Amino acid sequence: MTSIAILLAAGSGTRMKSIEKKQYMLLKDRPILYYALKALEDSYVSGIFLVVNAGDEDLVRRDYVEKYGFTKVMDIVAGGNERYHSVLRGLEAAENYRTAHSLTFDRVLIQDSARPFLTKDILQRVSDTLDTHPACVVGMPVKDTIKIADENGMVDHTPNRNLVWAVQTPQAFSYDLALSAYRKLGEREQELLDQGIVITDDAMVVETLTDTRIRLVQGSYENIKITTPEDLITAEKILDSSKNGLI
Ligand code: CTP
Ligand code: MG
Repeated sequence: MTSIAILLAAGSGTRMKSIEKKQYMLLKDRPILYYALKALEDSYVSGIFLVVNAGDEDLVRRDYVEKYGFTKVMDIVAGGNERYHSVLRGLEAAENYRTAHSLTFDRVLIQDSARPFLTKDILQRVSDTLDTHPACVVGMPVKDTIKIADENGMVDHTPNRNLVWAVQTPQAFSYDLALSAYRKLGEREQELLDQGIVITDDAMVVETLTDTRIRLVQGSYENIKITTPEDLITAEKILDSSKNGLI
């Protein structure tokens, strides 16, 4: 069973409001991007396709991949304006590599570099789930009650909290399913936008464009995405208290 990973490190982190792009900012003594890369390098995935901002490919290869001695990075490619454009570029790079080397890829994990706390346990649960389901997404049940608002900022309704999950990454799929769903998205993007459908995660691509149902997998409350400056402080605390050898 061959699993690969698409590691997303494009985007500019506008909500971080920093001068440096957030994926390159330091968390303790390592760049944020390092942590997810390290977790994937040390895992069962056999190849990593790294998606970075156009123009950053050489810098990332030298300062992050070669510097830390990562060996599983098969290609570094430029992402696009939206996260889903970056995923599609990553999948196309994987497919080019697969064809050029006559390989078979069975599974693909899609991971945000902005989530440094990817653990062995989470990766194992993803792998176990893919043994029986072609699509899964890591997440956690929400702790807050969630309200769905209308356009005027009035509460429309309150979903049953026991059924509401906040999703994280990895989001993982059978390889063929992910490639075909994302290629369909590439063809039908404008049609979806015209219908007011905004794609915000990978599972949504598969939900919207295929008949495949998606299994939720337990992540962890520490598997946060670093989005705003206060998340960096939380992340340092998580790193300080972590006992499971994240680095
Ligand atoms: N990402 C990407 N390509 C994009 C946008 C985002 O590869 N066009 C990646 C980011 O590197 C990040 C992950 O997707 O690891 C989640 O995105 P987010 O946290 O929203 O990062 P940014 O889009 O960079 O931040 P912001 O939305 O605050 O601008
Ligand atoms: Mg974003």
